[in-house]
Amino acid sequence: MALWAGRFSKEVDETVNAFNSSIAFDARMYAQDIRGSIAHATMLGDCGIIEKSESEAIITGLKGILQDLQEGTLEFDPNAEDIHMFVEAELTKRLGSTGKRLHTARSRNDQVALDIRLYLRDEMEHIKKLILDLMQTICDIAEQHTETIMSGYTHLQRAQPITFAHHILAYAQMLKRDYERICDAVDRMNECPLGSGALAGTTYAVNRQQTSDLLGFRQPVENSLDGVSDRDFCIELCCALSLLMTHLSRFSEEIILWCSWEFKFIELDDAYATGSSIMPQKKNPDVTELIRGKTGRVNGDLITLLSMMKGLPLAYNKDMQEDKEAIFDAIDNTELCLKTFIPMLRTMRVLKDNMRKAAAKGFINATDCADYLVKKGMPFRDAYKITGTLVATCIEKDLTLETLPLADYQAMTELFAEDVYQAISLDTCVRERKSYGAPSPDAVKIQLQHLREALSSYQKS
Ligand code: ARG
Repeated sequence: MALWAGRFSKEVDETVNAFNSSIAFDARMYAQDIRGSIAHATMLGDCGIIEKSESEAIITGLKGILQDLQEGTLEFDPNAEDIHMFVEAELTKRLGSTGKRLHTARSRNDQVALDIRLYLRDEMEHIKKLILDLMQTICDIAEQHTETIMSGYTHLQRAQPITFAHHILAYAQMLKRDYERICDAVDRMNECPLGSGALAGTTYAVNRQQTSDLLGFRQPVENSLDGVSDRDFCIELCCALSLLMTHLSRFSEEIILWCSWEFKFIELDDAYATGSSIMPQKKNPDVTELIRGKTGRVNGDLITLLSMMKGLPLAYNKDMQEDKEAIFDAIDNTELCLKTFIPMLRTMRVLKDNMRKAAAKGFINATDCADYLVKKGMPFRDAYKITGTLVATCIEKDLTLETLPLADYQAMTELFAEDVYQAISLDTCVRERKSYGAPSPDAVKIQLQHLREALSSYQKS
C-alpha cells in the first residue's frame, strides 16, 4: 500500500506502479536522502515541531538505515516508488508511528530538489579532482617537451612551428575553465530548497536557515516555487560536463590522428590500446574513440534536460523525475572517460623525432621568411608575395626553404642575405615566438608556472 493511499479506493495498476517508480535509478541518492532527513529531523526537534525524543529516535533510526545500506544488510525494495518513500517506509517499519513524524513540514518535492543538489555537489568533488589530475598530467608531460618542435595546424594543414608542450597546454587551459565553470555552477546551485514544501512553503514554524547551515548550503532558496520547480542547476552542470567532454573529445581526436602511421607523433602504451580480431598488425586507439563517442551521449543528456524543462508550468511536474537518469548518465560517463584518459595520457610515448621531421616539411617557416623581409624594411604584403613565390619554387625543385640556394632568394630581392637560413631555422622560429602566451620555450615556461600556481590554489581551496 502506497504511503499516499488514503484518497484512493483501489490499488494502482501494476504497470503504472512500475512506470511511476524511480527507485531503480534514484536509489543511488540514498546517503544524500538520509543526510537531508537527519537535518530536517534535527530542525523539527529544535523548533519544537516534533518532540526532541522523537527527533532523536528518528535520527538514530536513519543512521541505522544508512549503515545497513552501506553494509549491504538492507536491500532496496524494487517495488518502492522512489528512494524517499523507501527510506521513510523503512524508518516507519523500524520505529512505528514515530517514523511517521519525519515527513512533517516537508514534501517529496523539496526533498528530491534537495537530494539532487546534495548528490551533484558530492559528485562534482570527484569530477573536479579528476580534472585537476588531468591538468597535472598535462603539465608534467609539457615540462618535458618545451623544446619539442612540432607543426601547429590550421585546417589540418601545417601552419607554423610550435612545441608539443605548447600544444597540449592549450588543453590544460580549457580544462582550467572547465574546472572553474563547475565551481561556479556548484556555487550557484548551493542553496537549500528544504522548507519549500510541495510548492508553497509550510505553516509550521520551521527554521530554514538551520537546515541550510546543517547541510552546508550558502543560504535557503528564496522562493518556494522556484525551490521545487527548477532544474537549471542540472542543466548548467550538464552543460559544463558537455564542454569538458568536448575538450576531451578534441584531444582524443588529435591522439587518434597522432598515433596513425600517417602522423606517428605518439605511441600509446599497450595497456591503453586494443588489437583487431582479424588484422594482426593493428593497435587501435579505442579509448580515445570511445571518449569521442561518449561526448555525443553527454550532449544528448543535455538536450534531454533542456527539452524536459522547456514547457513545464510551475511548480513540480512528474516529468522532472526524468532529470536523474540524464544527469547521472552524464556524470558517470564523464567520470569514466577522465579515469581512463589520464593514465592513457601519462603512459603514452612522445615520438619527438617524428614530430620534428614532419615540421621540417610543409613550409611552416614561410611566415618567418616573410617576417625576415619585413624586419629589413619591406611591407608585409610584398614580403608575403615574394615568400609565396619562393615556396612555389621549392615545390617545383623538390626543396625546402632551408635547402633553397641563396641565389634563388636573392633573385627575388637583394634584401636576402646568408642570415636568412638562421632566421628560418625551426629552432629560431620557435625561440623567437616569445610574445605573451606564444610557443617559445621561455614563454611556455611562464604559462606552465601560472598553471601550476592555479593548480595549487585549487588544491588548497
Ligand atoms: N521520484 C520523484 C522525482 O524524482 C520524487 C518527487 C515526487 N513528487 C511528487 N509529487 N510525485 O521527481
